Amino acid sequence: MNILMINGTMRKGSSYHIGKMLIEKIAKKEDQISELFLPKDMPEFCRGCAVCIKDSEKKCLDYLMYMKRITKMIDEADLLVFTSPVHVMHVTGALKALLDHYGYRFMVHRPEESMFRKQAVCITTAAGGGMKSTLKDIKDSLFFWGIAKIYTYGVAVAATSWEEVEKAKKDKIELEIDKIVLKLKRDTEKVKPGIKTKILFYIMRSMHKKGMNPVDQEYWKEKGWLEKERPWGKKEGI
Ligand SMILES: Cc1cc2nc3c(=O)[nH]c(=O)nc-3n(C[C@H](O)[C@H](O)[C@H](O)COP(=O)(O)O)c2cc1C
Repeated sequence: MNILMINGTMRKGSSYHIGKMLIEKIAKKEDQISELFLPKDMPEFCRGCAVCIKDSEKKCLDYLMYMKRITKMIDEADLLVFTSPVHVMHVTGALKALLDHYGYRFMVHRPEESMFRKQAVCITTAAGGGMKSTLKDIKDSLFFWGIAKIYTYGVAVAATSWEEVEKAKKDKIELEIDKIVLKLKRDTEKVKPGIKTKILFYIMRSMHKKGMNPVDQEYWKEKGWLEKERPWGKKEGI
């Protein structure tokens, strides 16, 4: 299994430690585990030129330097683990900046096929509140990317570092993480998108059949998605 951890901060704080806890529980010796830290691994903001959407993501000014490497890592991963502290009720600016770079991958444009067979876990910690809105910030992107299974976990740790988190709280976190680990599949062949993802796919498919953005329509055509092929496997049908 290939596991990629994307951390919305450089700090190895509570969010990171909980993410690591989950990975240690699911991973086996043979697995490949990689970690990205933001903004170090992708320090640029989206410029809003929309060249990725209208033409090609390879023409993004951040492609060669940062996005090419990160995108390859994301595409090769079976399990994505996103962590972010709550910063003023939302995801960190660094993680939002990375997610902004993937607007072209939304299902309304050119979703990457492998997403429909991936699992993702989004983890956030706050001192007191804002976990729901922060998890939504991440989950919204992953859902529109087409990620097959998305799990979320948010917790108020009443602390600004992992060392400060009380033992009883850490024990409770561990139990809750165990529950998510039980839901994750090591056999990636068994990962299939849920009905909401498939419905969105079919709505987008009908739009692409009519044709909106020629680049997107060509992409859907090439994939065979306007015919019988499906990103989660042709034989599966709906
Ligand atoms: C700039 C900044 C903004 C924050 N905003 C919130 C907030 O809106 N709600 C909250 O409960 N905690 C907030 N916190 C506290 C952190 O979310 C909390 O300490 C979190 O557990 C830190 O995670 P980390 O250890 O992974 O960095 C904020 C902290 C910082 C530095």
